[in-house]
Amino acid sequence: MLRNVLPRVPGWLGKYCLEKSHLASTVPSDSHHPFIPMKICCVGAGYVGGPTMSMIARKAPDIQVTVVDLNERRIAAWNSDVLPVYEPGLDEVVREARGRNLFFSTDVKGAIAEADIVFVSVNTPTKTYGVGAGRAADLRYIESVARTIAEVAKTPKIIVEKSTIPVRTASTIQEILAAYPGTAKCQVLSNPEFLAEGTAIADLEKPDRVLIGGERTPEGEAAIETLASVYGRWVPRERIITTNLWSSELSKLVANAFLAQRISSINAISALCEATEADVDEVANAIGKDSRIGPKFLKASVGFGGSCFQKDVLNLVYLCEHFGLPEVATYWEGVIKINDWQKRRFAAKIVRSLFNTVADKRIAVLGFAFKKDTNDTRESAAINVCRDLLTEHANVVVYDPKVPADEIIADVCGRGVSPNPRLSVAKTAYEACAGAHAIAIVTEWDEFKTLDYEKIYAGMPKPAFLFDGRNITDLAKLRAIGFRARGIGK
Ligand code: UDX
Ligand code: ADP
Repeated sequence: MLRNVLPRVPGWLGKYCLEKSHLASTVPSDSHHPFIPMKICCVGAGYVGGPTMSMIARKAPDIQVTVVDLNERRIAAWNSDVLPVYEPGLDEVVREARGRNLFFSTDVKGAIAEADIVFVSVNTPTKTYGVGAGRAADLRYIESVARTIAEVAKTPKIIVEKSTIPVRTASTIQEILAAYPGTAKCQVLSNPEFLAEGTAIADLEKPDRVLIGGERTPEGEAAIETLASVYGRWVPRERIITTNLWSSELSKLVANAFLAQRISSINAISALCEATEADVDEVANAIGKDSRIGPKFLKASVGFGGSCFQKDVLNLVYLCEHFGLPEVATYWEGVIKINDWQKRRFAAKIVRSLFNTVADKRIAVLGFAFKKDTNDTRESAAINVCRDLLTEHANVVVYDPKVPADEIIADVCGRGVSPNPRLSVAKTAYEACAGAHAIAIVTEWDEFKTLDYEKIYAGMPKPAFLFDGRNITDLAKLRAIGFRARGIGK
């Protein structure tokens, strides 16, 4: 396919593709076409940049991949045996490629200057100040990277937006690049990441689709082809979708909004189930069998967390308001409102069940990450649950298999603030539960399914309560042991 496309591509990118891209790895090098390895740089060594680049390096040993970050500790961790991101299967991928064609460095400018393709994978948190506070994405990190690229790009590059960004961010990057005299001509592409944490390696290995948006000009098409050829090494071509820039940018927000909407929908129904004695898992199973609805993302929970859902839905809400569509904004805002309500509802149920007071009672919170198989705590429901219980003067003891104690305390109490003495962190689930008046399961870690609940029950004051915020335990068995056990939507 590339062979058909490339000869029609005029200008610098066509030549670049022919000499340096996919063909370089398939056509033996000779004196006319010397083999020049393609160089990829990724700015931002976080949950997205690190795993994604590690997978590209594994699948394309002929491409040199350098991941850069300003955060020296993070880069040192990527170069060590204890990676900064916990993700099943990631260690193996990094071990295979690191030092061969995968490098982690703090030399941001040097790596950008050398690269043919620059992925931008920096954080885009929700703005906490000024216009759009609490809704719009904070683009300061994106702008800073764009300025760095503009300073050092003396050869043409393809710049790839990987971070989730508001629609039309590509034009901001283009404008910044154009404002610097001497910057080489660069193409900006949007290539949103759809991996989910905890399953990132499987998602990267076999993505449902790879989306690449670019300008519909010959140069834009050539840049799209170059990036497609990178993914084309392991992703079937029919799964690589190309669109214009704005469709690609918007699709990322819309995909996350639809997924979040499903969770808020089932969580809203979970409250109705509790009122009517229906069982939300049975309802989810029944509706999910309808092929038009499908079974995924119908697991009622204590509320969704993670770095994307809330941020992206809020971003969508902001965009709708900005473009004069208040009805659409209100519609999507409902997804967030239900999620906030569900988190509060869980903590309130604990207080109500414990005879309307948890003051000085020990509550064991099992799980702190926003989902299992990750050490990421961003927007985790556990943060809200802990804060609500502390406000009620409970003594909260948290256990999570992967999140460090200082992270838990900083997330709940704030950074640089003296920690709340009522909050502590246990080294095991058993330690957390010993002497607890109630257990709250907040993350669905597999180990919580197989704990010795008889032993735990024996060590708790009675009546002993258990609130399963993830519906992973067998409530009937727990009740048979003696627990006053409650799930979500049951
Ligand atoms: C999400 C998107 O799935 C991914 O495509 C995008 O690239 C980034 O955002 P992630 O946030 O890593 O990925 O995890 P995801 O599996 O989507 O879970 C998000 C939250 O929803 C978690 O807190 C999870 O526990 C919760 N969830 C998920 C539910 O409560 N119920 C479900 O049925 C599914
Ligand atoms: P994500 O989940 O999107 O990967 P993270 O917060 O885990 O987000 O990672 C983003 C990374 O980007 C952080 O490690 C941060 O230090 C890095 N970063 C932010 N701005 C810059 C910049 N201008 N140059 C280099 N790295 C940056």
